[in-house]
Amino acid sequence: MRRRFLDLLACPDCGADLAVAEARVEADEDDLVEGELACEGCGRRFPVRRRVPVFVDESQYADSFGWQWQRYAQLQRDSYNGTSIVRNTILKRSGWTPGHLAGKLLVECGCGSGNDTEVLADLAGTVVSFDLTEAVFAFDEDLLRRENVLVLRADILRIPLKRARFDVVYCHRVIMHTPDPPASFASMAPLVAPGGEFFLHSYSTDWKSLANYKYAWRPLTKHLPHTVVYRILRVVGWPLYLLHAALHRLAFLRRLNRVVIPFEYHGRSLHKAGTTLSFRERYEYSFLITFDALTPTFDNPSSAETLQGWFEDAGFVDVEVRARNPVIVLGHRPADVELAPRAAETAPPPEKPARS
Ligand SMILES: C[S@@+](CC[C@H](N)C(=O)[O-])C[C@H]1O[C@@H](n2cnc3c(N)ncnc32)[C@H](O)[C@@H]1O
Ligand SMILES: [Zn+2]
Repeated sequence: MRRRFLDLLACPDCGADLAVAEARVEADEDDLVEGELACEGCGRRFPVRRRVPVFVDESQYADSFGWQWQRYAQLQRDSYNGTSIVRNTILKRSGWTPGHLAGKLLVECGCGSGNDTEVLADLAGTVVSFDLTEAVFAFDEDLLRRENVLVLRADILRIPLKRARFDVVYCHRVIMHTPDPPASFASMAPLVAPGGEFFLHSYSTDWKSLANYKYAWRPLTKHLPHTVVYRILRVVGWPLYLLHAALHRLAFLRRLNRVVIPFEYHGRSLHKAGTTLSFRERYEYSFLITFDALTPTFDNPSSAETLQGWFEDAGFVDVEVRARNPVIVLGHRPADVELAPRAAETAPPPEKPARS
């Protein structure tokens, strides 16, 4: 991590500033690779591993994500599969022009292994991305080294960042996988600076979204160890994929297939997007998305109206529902608003531990 990013960090326990307590490996005087940060308020220490400050040491309910992103770190990356699927999805869903994020400070909440991050790092001025799981250690090394990227292992419910500093808060394909989506929203919203914006995606309660094989199977698969689901999919995957591929020509059956066949099929869309992935890799890409659909502990979809209500109740203006399936909502923080400090910041800081 670049030392100048310390200015953005705050202790998740007490809200105080953090400082470098120990630098074991540095690539240069600005770039800390291995070491430790310490809170200047409560004294708690946080390791830095492979440039990533670590604020949580277990994935809690999200183990399956950590596991999948370690195994499939690259397949969905535009830079790996030769498409612009991620870039186009971000721009289409947000409505942003490619220049919209230029020079801005963006925080990405729930980044996985960085599929979106690499695109955001090209579009925005600076990107701070975090995830609850060890997926952050599957980031591309070059991305972690970039001057405008900071990656953290942290929890949406205890975000180790200063409030009201970010021009853009970005949360894509994450909030429904948290145990309490309204609490996750309430934790992210204060990060938005006056005049800034918040992009939020959620799976929808729309019937078209719920009419999906995963909601029939998840009551079983979410309780199975993810390694068991993986092994079952390894057995049934190819036949189901080939069945999908054969039926894909019959356009009128496609919606029904998505309900009935418990496996994803992205072979055709990847082909159309000009992918360089082989036939087998296109199968693996579809395998990953199936695994990602069946294994998460939580999949709590919301309606567009619910998300819109959260934004409005939190004082956002120009709240726009850009899509309903999935739900995409964008809201803006008025430029002249002042946020109340969080509880821990109003209390006097605990006494600093004596330094030896
Ligand atoms: C479906 S993945 C999406 C990853 C990435 N945003 C993307 O679109 O490729 C959901 C991610 O949310 C992360 N996540 C779930 N709960 C979280 C939490 N409380 N704090 C931070 N990340 C969380 C998971 O670890 C997982 O990587
Ligand atoms: Zn502290």
